[in-house]
Amino acid sequence: MNNRYAVILAAGQGTRMKSKLYKVLHPVCGKPMVEHVVDEISKLEIESTVTVIGHGADLVKSQLGDRSKYVLQEQQLGTAHAVMQAEDLLAGKEGTTLVICGDTPLIRAETMELLVAQHEQRKAKASILTAYTENPAGYGRIIRNSDGLVEKIVEHKDATNEERQVKEINTGTYCFDNKALFEALKHVSNENVQGEYYLPDVIEILKKNNETVTAYQTEDFSETLGVNDRVALSQAEATMRKRINETHMRNGVTIIDPLNTYISAGVSIGQDTVLYPGTILSGETKIGNECVIGPNTEIKDCVVGDNTTIRQSAAYESSIGADVNIGPFAHIRPSSDIGDEVKIGNFVEIKKAVFGKGSKASHLSYIGDAEVGSDVNIGCGSITVNYDGKNKYLTKIEDGVFIGCNSNLVAPVTIGKGAYVAAGSTITEDVPGEALSVARARQVNKENYVQHLKFNK
Ligand code: UD1
Ligand code: CA
Repeated sequence: MNNRYAVILAAGQGTRMKSKLYKVLHPVCGKPMVEHVVDEISKLEIESTVTVIGHGADLVKSQLGDRSKYVLQEQQLGTAHAVMQAEDLLAGKEGTTLVICGDTPLIRAETMELLVAQHEQRKAKASILTAYTENPAGYGRIIRNSDGLVEKIVEHKDATNEERQVKEINTGTYCFDNKALFEALKHVSNENVQGEYYLPDVIEILKKNNETVTAYQTEDFSETLGVNDRVALSQAEATMRKRINETHMRNGVTIIDPLNTYISAGVSIGQDTVLYPGTILSGETKIGNECVIGPNTEIKDCVVGDNTTIRQSAAYESSIGADVNIGPFAHIRPSSDIGDEVKIGNFVEIKKAVFGKGSKASHLSYIGDAEVGSDVNIGCGSITVNYDGKNKYLTKIEDGVFIGCNSNLVAPVTIGKGAYVAAGSTITEDVPGEALSVARARQVNKENYVQHLKFNK
């Protein structure tokens, strides 16, 4: 088999995005567009991948790391000029070179594989991945001769009215004989409406030299969508979302309403988990088996064990155990570690707190900077007073403690194993294990006192 190389074009600013963020770094389902492309390419047998960077070069580099080599295109003079930058790394090599735009995030490895296979089988010098669309505006058009063979690609802006009627478009993914590519690139001119060196012009140059050029038309235009503006970005997002959701459903996850369920590319979900509408799972989230998530629940960068229920809640950068029950309306803030069989009920906020097995904060609590042991019961409305306006302090609540309702635990403070705190207490000193601590004013009942208030009766 021939050696295979890949060149990803990612140097453009992306003017039409009207954004501070460089185009290829815009995320689609939580992953930058160019990373989707690199991930798909990495599924193919590619000897070396070269990414052409320019705008946002350092950011693109740090995003992709050592999965690619890089060449810098200092001035963005067009897609042919971009590929030219890889000359030092690739020219002179025998083999096949795939060229892909960094702004086509939906392209799948399987499709590229089919393109390369046809290219190699037909011993072509160039093969273009094309697609058919009812709305080809903006794309380069595939111009075929009377025999149906590809003659050239005409950019939308350069096309005649007649050429603009053509609905077969250039997807921006190609496959070339490597040597023929770099030879032809030398002959590309920039005499066109945009004054750019167009990569598609290589096709016409090779044709004129009587080289074999083939086209492989995919059936699925949506896969080849080029994202130039935010409208296309939302279309890419919708297509990718559907693809991700369907993968999870095929793997045994029930998604009640896929159109209203948002799962990022890096998320994994176990079998028999049910996702209700309005669920947003993002970052590196891992959900176990047989969980119930949602409705209206956001979970980002969390690991969730099996058989856990999280309803109408938000959880970030935390670990949540198995058989846990969270919500509705709970907020799990970063660096929390919720053990197995814990219950976090309505209107409870947890921040940077550890909860041991079987502990409960069932209603209206704030537990921040705390270590809560196992089988602890935190009564309704209890809070850790963790902040003195300057510093944060730790509250330790040992195993089996019972905190009565509406208690304030003023940190730093430790409630010893098995202790009880009476409802309404403001605890400022450590409570020994097995003690009952009452820290509130005694109740005084003044008999018949109300009569004295009725002055002017
Ligand atoms: C390009 C194709 C068009 C095709 C479409 C598919 C050209 C001239 N046109 O148009 O035929 O239908 O893609 O989506 O190739 N880039 C660089 N350096 C440059 C210019 C661009 O790296 O000097 C990169 C961009 O970052 C982008 C990609 O190349 O990732 C494509 O450039 P873009 O300007 O989006 O081309 P289109 O107008 O979409
Ligand atoms: Ca584009």
